[in-house]
Amino acid sequence: MTMLEARGLGIGFGGVRALDDVSFAVREGEIRGIIGPNGAGKTTLLNVICGLVRPDAGEVLLAGEPITGLKPNVIAGRGLGRTFQTSQLFRGMTVLENLMTGLHGETRAGLFAAAFGGRAMLAEEERAREKAWKALEFVGMERFWDRPAQALSFGQQRVVEIARTLISEPKVVLLDEPAVGLSLNRLAELDRLLRRIRDERGVTLVMIEHVIRLVMGVCDRVTVLQGGVVIAEGTPDAVIEDARVIEAYLGRRVDARRRAS
Ligand SMILES: Nc1ncnc2c1ncn2[C@@H]1O[C@H](COP(=O)(O)OP(=O)(O)OP(=O)(O)O)[C@@H](O)[C@H]1O
Ligand SMILES: [Mg+2]
Repeated sequence: MTMLEARGLGIGFGGVRALDDVSFAVREGEIRGIIGPNGAGKTTLLNVICGLVRPDAGEVLLAGEPITGLKPNVIAGRGLGRTFQTSQLFRGMTVLENLMTGLHGETRAGLFAAAFGGRAMLAEEERAREKAWKALEFVGMERFWDRPAQALSFGQQRVVEIARTLISEPKVVLLDEPAVGLSLNRLAELDRLLRRIRDERGVTLVMIEHVIRLVMGVCDRVTVLQGGVVIAEGTPDAVIEDARVIEAYLGRRVDARRRAS
């Protein structure tokens, strides 16, 4: 079954066509990599999928349902989680509190609180706390629950951000460069964590990543963007050998590279 689909997505910023007729389909339980040089449109693609940017062409379907143009919190409520290229943790909050904010995409809490007052809000908070705790256990970071977020290492903060997406039990999670700045050991841990999220929680993952080692290790398929256009798609092995992909990364013709080596 196709879990996430983009059909002919397009968006322009001024003169720049950041995405142009971008289509792809991710099946349920897949780990999809999105790669491409800087400025290729990768983050813009995630922004369009999660509702932060409205496309001027095309549509997005989540589990077969159109979600194009819906508000980010509504799309989150439909089962889409997201992490960002830079840390989005609240610095003044503890790890557990940060995880609890992962439920705020759902508007139900607000509605209940408005209708029934404080008691419903407390029950909702208790539910969020329980889910946050379970997500912390899942990623093996329970012992850090009461630390301020900024006291964690960079790698740990990334894991907390991933855990935060899990507490609303998403169908799909989009990750924007989860491995940036991680050491090799941490990279291996992230590799294992992403697989467990897929295998044990049934989450479909779409991951922008420059760290080719991680892409090769965990992705079932890879979509390559350049200049807002999909230039290749396939298994990591096939894509890495693709002449257009090599050219996109090296910024010169492949035959020139062959002669040089
Ligand atoms: N809000 C915006 N306003 C104007 N231009 C934008 C906006 N967002 C993105 N762009 C432009 O769209 C293009 C794609 O940017 P995007 O951030 O999606 O690239 P990327 O593939 O994520 O790059 P990187 O690997 O550096 O993160 C760039 O030319 C960028 O300058
Ligand atoms: Mg980006």
